[in-house]
Order: sequence, then structure tokens, then C-alpha cells
Amino acid sequence: MILIDGKKIAAELREELKKEVSNLKAKYNKVPGLTVILIGDLTPSQIYVRNKEKSANEVGLKSDVVKYPDSVEEKVILDKIQELNNDETVSGILVQLPLPKHIDKKKVIETIVPSKDVDGFHPMNVGNLSSGYESSVPCTPLGCYLLIKKIEPNLSGKKAVLIGRSNLNGKPMAQLLLKENCTVTITHSKTKDLKAECLEADIIVAAVGIPELVKGDWVKKDTIVIDVGINKTDKGIVGDVAFEEVSTNAKALTPVPGGVGPMTIACLLKNTIDCFKRLADK
Ligand code: GUN
Repeated sequence: MILIDGKKIAAELREELKKEVSNLKAKYNKVPGLTVILIGDLTPSQIYVRNKEKSANEVGLKSDVVKYPDSVEEKVILDKIQELNNDETVSGILVQLPLPKHIDKKKVIETIVPSKDVDGFHPMNVGNLSSGYESSVPCTPLGCYLLIKKIEPNLSGKKAVLIGRSNLNGKPMAQLLLKENCTVTITHSKTKDLKAECLEADIIVAAVGIPELVKGDWVKKDTIVIDVGINKTDKGIVGDVAFEEVSTNAKALTPVPGGVGPMTIACLLKNTIDCFKRLADK
């Protein structure tokens, strides 16, 4: 079984990005900038944002975090986004989710100009991705996709089973794999026989937030298993895949932590650089 070392693969990607930033600096005399908006004091969000900032600095990006209290009015956020949309030093804007209840997520996402939408959540980017045009691609599925490609460069004709249909992962993941000529099944909580679906799969991507849902006897030999789950349990953080059981069966498997997580952040940096390049080429 191949243990997919997301930490190492993400570090390699950051190395490449660092060189790219240095080349861009030489060419344009400026570096890509990422601004993250963080609302409230949710600990997981604070940890993510700190990691994003640290990684952005490491590859040489200009990185800013703008913090607001939970009680901030929606208009303040929308105005800030408009200001960042018009700021030439900002290549990418990310508003950390989840948001407080009184702030309309859809409105926030749609206020970010699509060319700076490093999350790929704006309907324009979602539409472009599903039409097969150039777009920002959500960081988590992009990270999963790059890990899968490391193990299996030619995905044509492979059967992929995605567990979870979220806008954050399942749906964009399906688009990326369709583009690679996979046959894609998106499963969810109402799927009749999830085990039977998984037993058909050459690739499984689990992103539902159910601890150790995918069991050893759900996975056939030669399957690549990507675990997006991060679940707090009595025995610590576990994924959506029963790691020990599945590792005796699968061809390749990501650990939790140290699998998809580091790739997500590296892909955010990649998206920021790509936004910069698209704007610079205009
Ligand atoms: N919160 C958890 N994951 C994400 C993500 O990928 N993007 C944003 N904006 N917020 C998140």
C-alpha cells in the first residue's frame, strides 16, 4: 500500500510556487497578494487562517489577514471586499467560512470579483469549471486531484466514487475527474447502498464528516482512497475512512492528518499565483 504523503507533496508544490513567485517578482517587480477576511473567534478558523498566512509568507506572497468581531455588520464586510476588489496589490481574496448567521454567505461570495476568487466559490467560477473553461478551482478538491494524479497520471476510464455532494468538495471534484474522462458517481446521505458503490470504485474520495465511515471490506484491491474528513473523536482526530482496515486493502491511501490538509493550503497559494498571472496577462 502506498501511503500518500500529503505533507511531502505539498512541500514540493510550495517549493515550485516559491520559484514561480521569485520569477514573477523579477518579471513584474511585484508579488501576488492574498488577503484573508476572518470574522469571529472560532478556533478552527483561526488555526486555518494562521496556517494559510504562514504558508503564504513562506513562498514569498504578500499576505494580509483582516479580522472582524462576530458582531460585524454585513455591509462592513461587503464594503471591505469592494475595496479589495479595487486594490491592485491584492490578487486573491478569501473570506474564511463559516460566517456568523446574520451574514449572507451567498452575498459575500458574489461580491468577490471572480478574477480574485481564490476559493473558486463564485457562481462564475463554478460555471466555468463545469463548462470546462479556465477558472479558479476550490482548493480542497484541487489538492485531492493533484494527489490522485501523483499516484495515477492516466485516469481515463477509471471509476470514481465521491462520498459527499458539497459545493466545497464533491461537486467540484466531480468536474475535475470528468475532465480526466473518469466515470463519476456522486453519493450522499440518501444513497441506497454505499458499500456496493464503493466496491465498484477505482478511486474513492470521502468528504462527508462521518468518522471512519469507509470500512476495509468496502474497498477493492487497487483502489486509490482519498480521505478529506477531519473528525474529532474520543480517540483523537480521525478521517472518514477506517485507516487501519482500508490500508490493508487499498492501493494508496491518504493519512489524516498529513494527507489532504496540507495540499489544500498549498493549492490556495497556487490559486493566488494563478489569479495574479491571469490579471497580469490582461
Ligand atoms: N472553511 C473551511 N474550509 C474553507 C475553504 O476552503 N474556504 C473558505 N473560505 N473557508 C473554509
